[in-house]
Amino acid sequence: MSESGKKRVLSGIQPSGLLTLGNYIGAMRNFVALQDECECYFTVVDLHAVTVPQDPAALRENTETVAALFVAAGIDPKKAAIFVQSHVSAHAELGWLMTTLAYMGELERMTQFKDKAAGKEAVGAGLFVYPTLMAADILLYDAHLVPVGDDQKQHLELTRDLAIRFNRRYGETFVVPEPYIPEVGARIMSLDDASKKMSKSNPNPNSYIALLDPPDTVRKKIARAKTDSGREVVFDPQHKPEISNLMTIYAQCAGVTLDEVARRFEGKGYGDFKKELAEAVISVLEPLQNTYNQIRSSGEIFDILRDGAQRASSVAEATLRRAKEAMGFLLPK
Ligand code: AMP
Ligand code: TRP
Repeated sequence: MSESGKKRVLSGIQPSGLLTLGNYIGAMRNFVALQDECECYFTVVDLHAVTVPQDPAALRENTETVAALFVAAGIDPKKAAIFVQSHVSAHAELGWLMTTLAYMGELERMTQFKDKAAGKEAVGAGLFVYPTLMAADILLYDAHLVPVGDDQKQHLELTRDLAIRFNRRYGETFVVPEPYIPEVGARIMSLDDASKKMSKSNPNPNSYIALLDPPDTVRKKIARAKTDSGREVVFDPQHKPEISNLMTIYAQCAGVTLDEVARRFEGKGYGDFKKELAEAVISVLEPLQNTYNQIRSSGEIFDILRDGAQRASSVAEATLRRAKEAMGFLLPK
């Protein structure tokens, strides 16, 4: 438990290009939901981003963009610490210690690694040890809860295994964290193929809605989104995966249940549904974009990140020291 008696929360998002509505529904909305009752740390994980080649100018720009999007999505920097991972050097250091604790076999089983490495001739070693750095991110803050989308479940499981292994080997040091995954919206799928998750790395921009897409782009992308045969708006992920995905997005953006979505569109066709879906998405994105533009033009993000890194460092440094002491490192006096 933190000094404030609140549960601790940590989560991170990579600064690799634009964030999508999937990031928002699967993860960021829960960041916002947890900030009042928990002591929260939200980080832009730039050290994770460089596990695949990054253009330096683009990395800098994307890091600032994602930090500003955190604030625009409703994270209050007075409540939660918002920081850039590389600003707190304890992450890289504990990441190394976690790497020494992990087994090759368990890292080889990670599906995100298998997906990212598939078909590549040369695979970076950073991509392979990526989950040990993620474990360090979480364990440094004694986080009880980690709000993430469904695709991060396996990494969380590994983090738990590493924490338990460390505690057994060196004595109680780390809190064993739990994933915090939404019941609806933990896996938003592509607009052009409901068997793939919506992802900013998809080369087809019509497959995702970016948080910074202007309203007309949102309308066009949703009008083009794939639908199943038939015309009824019913939730049936097995037989009607495309429309079920769109219904999930509607439910999350309009703040209603899936049953309510089905009831609202009973007797109406896909065309009517898609029009209202676009407006529901825009009603979420528009205020977010207004705040985003305001933050970017004010330059205040740098103050927010400085303050966030200071708050994060004081917690992270203490945990790192505890872990190093437990492992038998001679600490400077
Ligand atoms: P990433 O963009 O890979 O750094 O992901 C940041 C967060 O967004 C993680 O918690 C992911 O699980 C979540 N996320 C990414 N894509 C989706 C999606 N399509 N649906 C739900 N959550 C997602
Ligand atoms: N691996 C996560 C992703 O790709 C990003 C991440 C890095 C993260 N460190 C984290 C998520 C710590 C939660 C907690 O989405």
